[in-house]
Amino acid sequence: MYASAAPTPVQRPVTVPSLRRMKQEGQPIVALTAYDASFAHVLDSAGVDVVLVGDSLGMVIQGHATTLPTTVDDIVYHCAAVRRGLTRPLLMADMPFLSYATNALALATAQRLLVDAGAAMVKLEGGQSCVLDAIQFLAEREVPVCAHLGLTPQSVLRMGGFRVQGRELDAQKLMLEQAHAVVDAGAQALVLECVPASLAKDITAAIPIPTIGIGAGVDCDGQILVSYDLLGITPGKRIRFTKDFLIETGSVAAAVERYAEDVRARRFPALEHSF
Ligand code: KIV
Repeated sequence: MYASAAPTPVQRPVTVPSLRRMKQEGQPIVALTAYDASFAHVLDSAGVDVVLVGDSLGMVIQGHATTLPTTVDDIVYHCAAVRRGLTRPLLMADMPFLSYATNALALATAQRLLVDAGAAMVKLEGGQSCVLDAIQFLAEREVPVCAHLGLTPQSVLRMGGFRVQGRELDAQKLMLEQAHAVVDAGAQALVLECVPASLAKDITAAIPIPTIGIGAGVDCDGQILVSYDLLGITPGKRIRFTKDFLIETGSVAAAVERYAEDVRARRFPALEHSF
């Protein structure tokens, strides 16, 4: 606990424009979730580009069955801790369920995440018109926004479970339209979760902002995983799109480094992790 960190070479912080540059240069974006300062430090040292304080914390930290009980206070608390562990990665924070149900709420939530908790970008789920409104409202007020399409866990009650999205032609067409719509609304990045790899590839090619996939195949501009999945410590059966990197590496730091290498070499996700 009191060991002093070895000096690391100074690297430029990752910014919102860097993400777009990485897409243009074909440099895969390495992203992971974190919920505390020590873990954030491990991700920072391993060269992760984007760290997300996800509302998944309601599931993996608090033990809830869904992300719905995660509150703005929860995200602010964990995001502030993660901020203290980071030097280089861009810090993204999730806007929890119903915390952007109106534009006024969205602004109040974004203010807490950016000003109180030190995030550099917020993420919100969905591509329906009220979400597009919120994205535009925030973007016009200089809040960098990452959109999230596909399996949006905050829609679990409507979807009736966590399921792959965009299998049928109609749903694929709609998702492509929504991807263009979030760009037009001002989003600066797009998470694609649990969608067929071919659809994620088409969306990635069609829009100018970087896509960050989770269960969306190897052709996204970047990849993200819930960090506890990467360590194989999430209870229950392994989800298809995750991989336990700890088993093959033997330490948390080495597991994160291997993940980063594999994403950059486009070795992860393999076909067996895709839909
Ligand atoms: O909450 C979260 O961790 C997320 C990622 C799975 C993308 O939204």
